[in-house]
Amino acid sequence: MKSSINVLALVLLLLFTACGGGEKKAGSAEGMDTGAIEQLAQRGQEIFRDRHLGESGVACMDCHTDYDEDGKNDGRVRAGHSILGAHTRAQTWNGEFTGNALRRTAAGAAKCAFQFQARGKNIETALSEQEAAALMAFYAYISPADEPPMLTWTAVTYPGDPDFNADAFDKEIETIEKLRGDAMRGEKVFGMACAFCHENGLGPAMRVVKRKVEHLPRAVRSGDETMPFFSRDKLTDQDIADIKAFIAR
Ligand code: HEC
Ligand code: HEC
Repeated sequence: MKSSINVLALVLLLLFTACGGGEKKAGSAEGMDTGAIEQLAQRGQEIFRDRHLGESGVACMDCHTDYDEDGKNDGRVRAGHSILGAHTRAQTWNGEFTGNALRRTAAGAAKCAFQFQARGKNIETALSEQEAAALMAFYAYISPADEPPMLTWTAVTYPGDPDFNADAFDKEIETIEKLRGDAMRGEKVFGMACAFCHENGLGPAMRVVKRKVEHLPRAVRSGDETMPFFSRDKLTDQDIADIKAFIAR
């Protein structure tokens, strides 16, 4: 009996987390009963929150929300977008994964686990088959039925893109470098987007960032190994110029 009480507690926890999300989506995965789906989704939630998933010390939830960002603001600018609706996508934002690869990477999450969380030897091994299924079940469980299947933001010219154009990227960086930054404003933006890692030992210390300040616009737009990139809807060119002015001060 004790174990069924635990299961009930887990289910309640999930329902609580999905609060406001309306109807629950049990029964969507074929051939699985409601209890099994809920357990799988619960496992997905644990993975999503796990800061020890990889070596880098950041969790999925440090870069993505599991709720609608427009409706709720906790004062942080995360590099990734909300994972709501990710299970229904036909391809990842840059078209890198489609079809079976999409399912196997949990809609592209395995790439994040490998690159940003330093887990596994390659994208294929960064998430097990089971973990990918758990994450997909989690997305499905918490997503409202009318969540649009595709992200609508336009990515910056990201060096990992299949159609990356080095000249266009250099021009984007030059545009940022020409802007006049506001250090006071930059301090605030830094606090929302960067401090979480750079003041907590999850990224290089401030003195290192300061030493590499010339490289800052490029680092923010392209990412750098475990450092995530920020798209334009997350940080504008002006935001980055302001952060740079603050760091260089
Ligand atoms: C250090 C930050 C970071 C971490 C940690 C991270 N991601 Fe990401 N993730 C990103 C960025 C940046 C993108 C590309 C922009 C986007 O899609 O939001 C991305 C893309 C994605 C996408 C693809 C979205 C799409 O439609 O193309 C999914 C799904 C995803 N991440 C899920 C996860 C999950 C699940 C984890 C944990 C296993 C995770 N991410 C860990 C930053 C991160
Ligand atoms: C999820 C954690 C995380 C966040 C958020 C983050 N960084 Fe980083 N950052 C890192 C890590 C880790 C590195 C080291 C990258 C590597 O392994 O090469 C790094 C490296 C850098 C570097 C040095 C790049 C180089 O040339 O070596 C700069 C500059 C930088 N970050 C600036 C920023 C700024 C500005 C922000 C906010 C817009 C930010 N970072 C947000 C984790 C983060």
